[in-house]
Amino acid sequence: MTRQPEASAFSEYLAAQENKSLLRFLTCGSVDDGKSTLIGRLLYDTKLLFEDQIATLSADSRKHGTAGEDLDFALLVDGLAAEREQGITIDVAYRFFATDKRKFIVADTPGHEQYTRNMATGASNSDLAIILVDARQGILTQTRRHSYIVKLLGLQHVVLAVNKIDLVDFSQERFDEIVKTYSEFVADFGFDTLVPIPLSARFGDNVIARSENTPWYSGPTLLQHLENVAVENEALARPFRLPVQWVNRPNLDFRGFSGTIASGIVRPGDAVVVAGSGATSRIKSIVTADGELEEASAGEAVTLTLTDEVDASRGDILAAASDRPEVSDQFAAHLIWMHDEALLPGRPYLIKIGTRTVGATVTEIKHKVDVNTFQRLAAKTLALNEVAVVNFSTHEPVAFDPFADNPKTGAFIVIDRMSNLTVGAGMVDFGLRRATNVHWQELNVSKQSRAALKGQKPAVLWFTGLSGAGKSTIANLVEKKLNAEGRHTYLLDGDNVRHGLNRDLGFTDADRVENIRRVAEVSKLFTDAGLITLVSFISPFRAERRLARELLGAGEFVEIFVDTPLEVAEARDVKGLYKRARAGQIKNFTGIDSPYEKPEAAEITLSAGAESPQAMADAVVSWLKANGYVD
Ligand code: ADX
Repeated sequence: MTRQPEASAFSEYLAAQENKSLLRFLTCGSVDDGKSTLIGRLLYDTKLLFEDQIATLSADSRKHGTAGEDLDFALLVDGLAAEREQGITIDVAYRFFATDKRKFIVADTPGHEQYTRNMATGASNSDLAIILVDARQGILTQTRRHSYIVKLLGLQHVVLAVNKIDLVDFSQERFDEIVKTYSEFVADFGFDTLVPIPLSARFGDNVIARSENTPWYSGPTLLQHLENVAVENEALARPFRLPVQWVNRPNLDFRGFSGTIASGIVRPGDAVVVAGSGATSRIKSIVTADGELEEASAGEAVTLTLTDEVDASRGDILAAASDRPEVSDQFAAHLIWMHDEALLPGRPYLIKIGTRTVGATVTEIKHKVDVNTFQRLAAKTLALNEVAVVNFSTHEPVAFDPFADNPKTGAFIVIDRMSNLTVGAGMVDFGLRRATNVHWQELNVSKQSRAALKGQKPAVLWFTGLSGAGKSTIANLVEKKLNAEGRHTYLLDGDNVRHGLNRDLGFTDADRVENIRRVAEVSKLFTDAGLITLVSFISPFRAERRLARELLGAGEFVEIFVDTPLEVAEARDVKGLYKRARAGQIKNFTGIDSPYEKPEAAEITLSAGAESPQAMADAVVSWLKANGYVD
């Protein structure tokens, strides 16, 4: 039953809600575990005053808004806006209800196996998870996986809702058995609270009212627990952390750092540090829409001003000076993969940790984890729903805490750079010192002086295209011309490099990523040496060509798409490889059973099916002259 309140009733309602604490929770369960029934019952039996999707709520608040309402709604809609930026709300429905004691937002997520990502979306904004289990089925693989995700996203409070207890004759024995199995499974997860409740969503047993059918159960009903569970206690006890959401600078006299306090308590006078730079200062004031505060704590959205002019930007962490987060560009982590396309070590992704989004790659998959047995398994890639222990390397140092010390600053998500989708979630195990102890050695002779001696501007001419497209032939001719004109060059050719440096790599997606990563690094070194480097690799994936581009300086990367149609390359079949691939003798052959992603913005595109190699080589050299690479 849904009742839409009138505008005035709505305002009154909001005013009454303002002083109540808010609990965000989500329900996770397999299909048919009874999630919708449970949510329906909660909403119905609490005689809810208002129930709808939050989108409607925010639209209404804008229509009828007063300052008070705005504040409330900002709070509710905040998390959602961040998610929308990432385009991952698709299948998560948020519902709002309240009792006399508390207000609630429940994230309702689909339970199918392939929807783990939506579940994670819901979880990343929640304080508590209700893990639903069908009393007849007990703990399933999905139950374990959901619990893992809940843990990885930093939730510390779990309700094990043993549903359909009526269908096992309200058996205490069955309940105890399920609770035992589950407790053993999550023993090492260290949840702050784990409360098992026997219930029947269908008939209402132990949802709102205590059931006469389970006289052996003395714990709280679900609603009692939701109303009373203290979710911020642990976060309060942890050191102060404020991930900076934005720097508030309305005029030259005011500079405040705004965000939601992730953990701890802060007061004016407290010594704080900007984690990234190590700059220290003291809190001058805590500003909110309602005036200045003497104290603010975990969960509150505030603006802090400092006594000194220190720099901090979005993504930095303001932290207790006496207890600082780690800052590193490498860390070990547990990761769950949520994408149909496998995780490939070496591929560039983004990670979002706190308010910081930074480029990152997995440098190593240490092992996969079987979520049922915790057994360790060897792995080169990670498929949908798989969990692993991995090492991450970030493009710049980031501030974090090991997850075990602080779930709020130790949990992160992985975002695909092309689609902007959330493709993984993880928790930091510990920072890796290795990177911190290896410093960049400053050399006296620079790239510029090496290049000046050669009288040229270093660059990488990156030829990409199908096997047999003519990349090597054209690159070879271009090098010959440049060499004849006195240029210092080197040609890195796929087939040749695969005989030496990359002889350990084959043609799986993972190996191709590593192949291109290494060549990109080598071409960067050659550029540093002042050379004009020609690279001739199929390099089929956009992500890694982009990685190569980003490794190099502005203007140093020239992407040359040797655009030969598959039919033409296959008809030529210089090495006889297409024939063998078609016959099934070569697996993962580009264009046949392995993809080629065409460049979207190559500096030069050569229609190699139509023109002669010589003409195309001339075109490349003319382009280099016209664009000031050589004179
Ligand atoms: S890349 O995809 O990783 O960039 P690379 O350019 O190094 O490929 O190597 C491609 C060359 O390896 C091709 O020109 C071809 O001679 C040979 N080759 C052997 N097997 C394959 C395959 N499965 N797919 C593509 N090329 C292959």
